Amino acid sequence: MGRHRAVMPDWLALYYEEPLEITHGEGRHVWDAEGNRYLDFFGGILTTMTAHALPEITKAVSEQAGRILHSSTLYLNRPMVELAERVARLSGIPDARVFFTTSGTEANDTALLLATTYKQSNSILAMRNSYHGRSFSAVGITGNRGWSPTSLSPLQALYVHGGVRTRGPYAHLSDDDFIAACVEDLKDLLGHTRPPAALIAEPIQGVGGFTSPPDGLYAAFRDVLAERGILWIADEVQTGWGRTGDHFWGWQAHGQSGPPDMLTFAKGIGNGMSIGGVVARADIMNCLDANSISTFGGTQITMAAGLANLSYLLEHDLQGNARRVGGLLLERLRAVAAQVPHVREVRGRGLMLGIELTRPGTDEADPAAASAVLEAAREGGLLIGKGGGHNTTSLRIAPPLSLTVAEAEEGAAILENALRSI
Ligand SMILES: Cc1ncc(COP(=O)(O)O)c(C=O)c1O
Repeated sequence: MGRHRAVMPDWLALYYEEPLEITHGEGRHVWDAEGNRYLDFFGGILTTMTAHALPEITKAVSEQAGRILHSSTLYLNRPMVELAERVARLSGIPDARVFFTTSGTEANDTALLLATTYKQSNSILAMRNSYHGRSFSAVGITGNRGWSPTSLSPLQALYVHGGVRTRGPYAHLSDDDFIAACVEDLKDLLGHTRPPAALIAEPIQGVGGFTSPPDGLYAAFRDVLAERGILWIADEVQTGWGRTGDHFWGWQAHGQSGPPDMLTFAKGIGNGMSIGGVVARADIMNCLDANSISTFGGTQITMAAGLANLSYLLEHDLQGNARRVGGLLLERLRAVAAQVPHVREVRGRGLMLGIELTRPGTDEADPAAASAVLEAAREGGLLIGKGGGHNTTSLRIAPPLSLTVAEAEEGAAILENALRSI
C-alpha cells in the first residue's frame, strides 16, 4: 500500500481502510493475496460481467494470443468485423456502424465528436447526477460534482432534470406527472439556448448510485428532441448486455419512440478485456471528413474475448438469469432494508441494485454508514461497491450475470448482517 501511495495519483481512490489485493478469481468468487475468499458483487465495477476465469473466454484469449495479439485497423481484422456485425445487429439501430475503442470514456468522446460535428454545435444536454468518463470532454458533461475535477471544457453542457426519481422538485409527483414535468422543463430549457447537438444519458445512472427515471422518460424526451433535430445518445456502459434483466439495453425501457441515434458501450462486453465502442446510424458515424483511429481499438486479443463472452452470454441467457436472480435478490434486500433505519431506498433492476443510505429519520446522505457497510460486508466475505451524488450515498450491487440463487442468498445474508451492524 505504501508503494501504491508513493507512485500512484492521490485521486486514485482505493476501497477499504486496509485495501485489498485481488490475486485471482473463479466464477463469482475472488481471492486476496492473503488467501481470503470473497463473493464478488461488484465485478471490478460491473466489468467482470459473466464470470471470473470463464474457461470459454480463457480458451479464446489463449488461442488468439498464440496467433496474433494486434495488427491495427490498417489491416482487415476478422474478429473485429465479426463482433461489429453482432453488436450492430443487437443494437436495434438501423444501418448501424460500430467503432471500437479501449474504454467507455473514449467511446463517449467519440460519440461527442460525432454529434458535435454532425450538428455543428458544441452544446450538449446531459443529466444531473450523470457520469460519462474521465477525459477532458467527458468530464465536461458529467453532472456529478464528485467526479468532475474541472469546469473547463470544450463543450457547453446543459444539465437536464429527471435521472433521479425520488429526489428533487418533482419527487412527490406520480410517474406520469414526473415525466410531464421533466419534459416541460426540457422544452423550457431549449427555448432559452442555442440548439444542442445531442442529449447523452445513462438509462440507469451508474456512478450516481443506480438511480433512474420512470420508464418512458427518455422516449418522451426523444419526441421533443426529434422535433428539433437533436440526437439521443444512450450511454450503455453499465446497463448494456442484459444487466438490467428486463431488457438487453437500458434504452429499451424507453423504447416507445424507437432506438437512440447512438449508443456507447464498454465494461462488461470484454469481461475484463478493454473493449469500448460506439454504435451509430451510418450517416452520423460517417460524418467525419478526416482520418480517425484508435490504435488499440478492435485489437484481435480483445475482440476474441468479446466474441467468446457475447456467445456465452446469449447461449446461457444471462439476461434471463439477471432478471430471475436479480428479482429474488431485490425482494430479499427490500425485506432486510425495511428493518434498517439507515436505508432510504432499495432500487434497481436485474443485477444492478442500489441501496441508498441516509442518517436515520432524515433525508441526509450518510457516507460514513456506506463505508461501514462496505467494511462489514468485506469482513463477512462479500465485495460490493458504493456511489452517489451531491446529496446521496448508495451501496452498489452488481454481481456477474451468472450469479446463482444460492450465491444471491449467501450475499444477501452477509449484506443483512453488514447493514444491521451499523
Ligand atoms: C456510464 C459510464 N459511462 C462511461 C464510463 C467511463 O468508462 P471507462 O472508465 O471505461 O472510461 C463509465 C465508467 O464508470 C460509466 O459508468
